[in-house]
Amino acid sequence: MLNGKQVLLVIGGGIAAYKCLDLIRRLRERGAGVQCVLTRAGAKFVTPLSVGSLSENKVYEDLFSLTDEAEMGHIRLSREVDLILVAPATADLMAKMAHGLADDLASTVLLAANCPIMFAPAMNVAMWQNAATQENLATLTLRGLKVIGPSEGDMACGEFGFGRMAEPLEMIAAIEDHFSVAAPLSGHRALVTSGPTHEPIDPVRFIGNRSSGRQGNAIASALAGLGARVTLVTGPVGSSLPKGVEIMRVETAAQMLAACEAALPADIAVFAAAVGDWQVKTMAAHKIKKADGEPPSLVLAENPDILKTIASGPGRPDLVVGFAAETTRLIDNATIKLTEKGCDWVVANDVGPGSDVFGGTENTVHLVTAAGVETWPKMSKQDIARKLAGRIAETIGAKNMVTSLGGEKEVGQ
Ligand code: C5P
Repeated sequence: MLNGKQVLLVIGGGIAAYKCLDLIRRLRERGAGVQCVLTRAGAKFVTPLSVGSLSENKVYEDLFSLTDEAEMGHIRLSREVDLILVAPATADLMAKMAHGLADDLASTVLLAANCPIMFAPAMNVAMWQNAATQENLATLTLRGLKVIGPSEGDMACGEFGFGRMAEPLEMIAAIEDHFSVAAPLSGHRALVTSGPTHEPIDPVRFIGNRSSGRQGNAIASALAGLGARVTLVTGPVGSSLPKGVEIMRVETAAQMLAACEAALPADIAVFAAAVGDWQVKTMAAHKIKKADGEPPSLVLAENPDILKTIASGPGRPDLVVGFAAETTRLIDNATIKLTEKGCDWVVANDVGPGSDVFGGTENTVHLVTAAGVETWPKMSKQDIARKLAGRIAETIGAKNMVTSLGGEKEVGQ
């Protein structure tokens, strides 16, 4: 259920913060990506080092950090996740959320968030029962925020009553419940390719391209986030690989094709890899030496077209999506690819000079289908991935309905 989900954990300042370390570990075990914001008080109870080591991500603490803002602005921090969990949600954090205060990174991120927010209160029993806290609780739940706990018991302050933060497994169960209603692709298998291919010239040189793999990796993650069982076949990429998907690492186009065939059957296939068109016909067994006179000539042979092979093969997935990275006549070329390669949809993107798509974090795409062309606004690669995965889920859902009613297969429409 949590495979590929991105959770932002806001850790407030309470003794219960230590439970967050176990919570992070359990979220990670289940395939979720975890980013953490530590409030100043939170950092008195758990260290950024322990939080960062368990989450395997940078820990954000400072609203006015120039480096953090340059890498990941506080608005984006709240936009690139599927869920925000505030734990421990102190009386102070609840008050800030209820009243829209934004005087530190945690409260600013919470105010800017456009995803669901859950919170696990933890405080002294009298603070919990105080009318101010109860009114804040009512305001927050009325706005649709989900509360987990607190439970009754002995408190660190020596008192007894309500105010103990929910245990990590209780929080996990609440998060899984939340996502179970949002897993339309559960039971479906998806194959995604990403990254470049490297075609060896000799043992130390290769022909490659500038693909970072970011877009394909984000799609794999987004499909997993909707419950699909995803196999990601990826070329040699530097960018970090998504969690919660099966990864097959390859170098050459021939290896990528073999890995894709091995990953079938699948219901959905998205070919986002920038596969090299040619390989060197005969790879030199030893490093080619620079000799006097003429440089060596490379004899090239065409690579297999992975998308075309899979789209025309016996185990064709129900929905096949290709990419078209073009520098000229984008839509025309993408439309030609739709029929030539036998795919249902083509995601076309302009990679001309100045577009900054290769290696960049944003993209502008057009979705080309038999029904026409849709132009999507410029978005982060993650947002494009989420939108595409959502479309895939709608289409696969509609197809299943048609099939279960005994009608024709209706993919690609
Ligand atoms: O390189 P080209 O513009 O033909 O790529 C269009 C689509 O075909 C992309 O989805 C790419 O991943 C796929 N492709 C492939 N195997 C190739 C070349 C391209 O799967 N050899």
